[in-house]
Amino acid sequence: MNEDIEHLMLKYEYALQKIETELKIIIKEYEFNNKYQPVEHIKTRIKTKESAIKKLEKKGYPISTENLKKHVHDMVGVRIVCSFLSDVYDIVNIIEKSENIKIKEKKDYIANPKESGYSSYHLIVLVPIYLENNIEYIETEIQIRTMAMDFWASLDHKIQYKFSDVIPDEVRKEMFDCSVAIKTLDNKMLGLNRIVNKYKN
Ligand code: GTP
Ligand code: MG
Repeated sequence: MNEDIEHLMLKYEYALQKIETELKIIIKEYEFNNKYQPVEHIKTRIKTKESAIKKLEKKGYPISTENLKKHVHDMVGVRIVCSFLSDVYDIVNIIEKSENIKIKEKKDYIANPKESGYSSYHLIVLVPIYLENNIEYIETEIQIRTMAMDFWASLDHKIQYKFSDVIPDEVRKEMFDCSVAIKTLDNKMLGLNRIVNKYKN
């Protein structure tokens, strides 16, 4: 049976509200316990029906709510932007420890960047939503990255938009070089932060 798309979209909204609240609580607890703020900002969004359809078409699946549930894993999206590289892994760690968040998949594109140079830590988690007669688990994509990685990804996104067709080799190479520079910068900033902390203690 094909589920009503409006009902499905509503469930995505419930899931987003739940995961957002849960993440805010565990991050606040971490901040309280460590007297330190690892997160610069959090952004959330629900993919529109239009871009979900575009994604299904691109992947070659017939348009249906069943295929949407099966093949689009980022209908609900959360992005957590941190200051330092170490903060990214600390946040992954506290999410993994949370009893209320079930992790389905982990992809460390920081240790293993994508061909484009894209780097971030991705989690696909299952968020339970309690409906009138049953519990459903809704997939949510959590992207965790540093500010430098976020800068790179947003420029990359704009470039992809500009060249809806093929991205020229020259542009791809420049972007890849930038991703290498960003990795160096993230490591340097982390080192600098460790030096600063040494003086604080
Ligand atoms: P898709 O979402 O269909 O690509 O599924 P997938 O299983 O390939 O997921 P993937 O781990 O590639 O992550 C998907 C999300 O990561 C995308 O929706 C983007 O937000 C982000 N992403 C992945 N690669 C890139 C990239 O090269 N540039 C940018 N800017 N973002 C990327
Ligand atoms: Mg992809």
